[in-house]
Amino acid sequence: MKLAPSLLSADFARLLDEALSVTPLASRLHWDVMDGHFVPNLTFGPPVVNALRRRLDLPFEIHLMISRPAEYAPRFEVRPGDCIIFHVEALDSAERAIAAIRQTGASVGVSLRPGTSLERIAPLLDDVSVALVMSVEPGFGGQAFRPDALERIRDLSQRIGGRAVDIAVDGGIHAGNVAGVVAAGAEIIVAGSAIFGAADRLGAMRAFLEAAR
Ligand code: DX5
Ligand code: ZN
Repeated sequence: MKLAPSLLSADFARLLDEALSVTPLASRLHWDVMDGHFVPNLTFGPPVVNALRRRLDLPFEIHLMISRPAEYAPRFEVRPGDCIIFHVEALDSAERAIAAIRQTGASVGVSLRPGTSLERIAPLLDDVSVALVMSVEPGFGGQAFRPDALERIRDLSQRIGGRAVDIAVDGGIHAGNVAGVVAAGAEIIVAGSAIFGAADRLGAMRAFLEAAR
């Protein structure tokens, strides 16, 4: 299991220190980019993520909750090993988004909202490295995990079959439910409030890792 802390729940005035505080036990850092159109919230974009990219060593996972992923993906200064995830419901076609992300050198991820059929991403599974299942409506941290995500993870895992596509799950995950998420087939666990809301972040991350084992 790879743990990807989401900086959405970090103190935005201290993003570099917040990222460093979880670095010892994180496999990658998850950055939630929102545009106020695709989701009713705004966070940070390429200038902020790129500035942090220059100062941090862990792989970045950039979750684009934006309407125009093909237009903005080229503005991220990624390194090999980074991943940019677009939403299949975005305005740009999946083909354009995938091509634009590939051009950056990042690996490609696709995500979908809880209400979107897995049929929408099934045809893309040969072209992506990560499939991110949202277990909350995208836009805000601190929401409750939707139990119907478990069946979707199992279904997606079957559809992936032998392909080299990692399932990531994002939203409402904590040490008390992570075991079920991993048992359903998730390889990458994104967690925001359960990590950054804890007084002892590394302790919280250890609890995740132990629960998933
Ligand atoms: C929600 C974001 C998530 C968010 C998860 O739209 O995509 O990455 O940070 O936060 P928690 O873990 O608090 O549900
Ligand atoms: Zn996210």
